[in-house]
Amino acid sequence: MNETMHALLNRRSVRTFKPQQIKDEELNAVLEAGKYAPSGANQQSALFIVVQDPETRETLSRMNLAVMGGDSDPYYGAPTLVLVLADKAKVTPVEDASLALGNMFTAAYSLGLGSCWVHRTRQMFESDEGKALLKKWGVEGDYVGVGSCVLGYAKGEHPQAASRKDDSVVMVR
Ligand SMILES: Cc1cc2nc3c(=O)[nH]c(=O)nc-3n(C[C@H](O)[C@H](O)[C@H](O)COP(=O)(O)O)c2cc1C
Repeated sequence: MNETMHALLNRRSVRTFKPQQIKDEELNAVLEAGKYAPSGANQQSALFIVVQDPETRETLSRMNLAVMGGDSDPYYGAPTLVLVLADKAKVTPVEDASLALGNMFTAAYSLGLGSCWVHRTRQMFESDEGKALLKKWGVEGDYVGVGSCVLGYAKGEHPQAASRKDDSVVMVR
């Protein structure tokens, strides 16, 4: 099996992290993988907001919980969050951001990082508080929150893959 196939098949969503921050070169490589994802009409509509500041992370965790309910950190203690939003004015914002996220998870795995998609980014940035944060961060325009990529060094065993459906391919030939 080649390295790309290995990474695609063995990447798993990681939900337990060490508190230690990841290296900037690792973060930059994951972001680069996201930026090089395909995008509709090459409009590159995805916007990557990296959050490593503990106070902001805490605010985002609270906002995410307000959508989801519950009381445990929806970001699983990961030290880096990459919020992926997309410019609604472009042709395929949600598709572009989703593909970017997909690239980022595979890249993270290939670099020895744990990662997971954490949802509810859309609702968070539809709220007044979310809009105020975007303004504070200098993000102008109309953006939809698509998903967040949490990153860190995994703690514990690498998760087992959930079995994949065997009826999800229709062959017409
Ligand atoms: C659109 C989307 C939303 C997801 N939201 C969450 C989430 O909020 N929290 C979480 O722990 N995992 C989330 N996941 C991860 C899935 O649960 C995970 O990919 C799935 O169970 C398959 O496991 P694997 O990634 O290890 O192969 C999400 C995945 C996708 C694609």
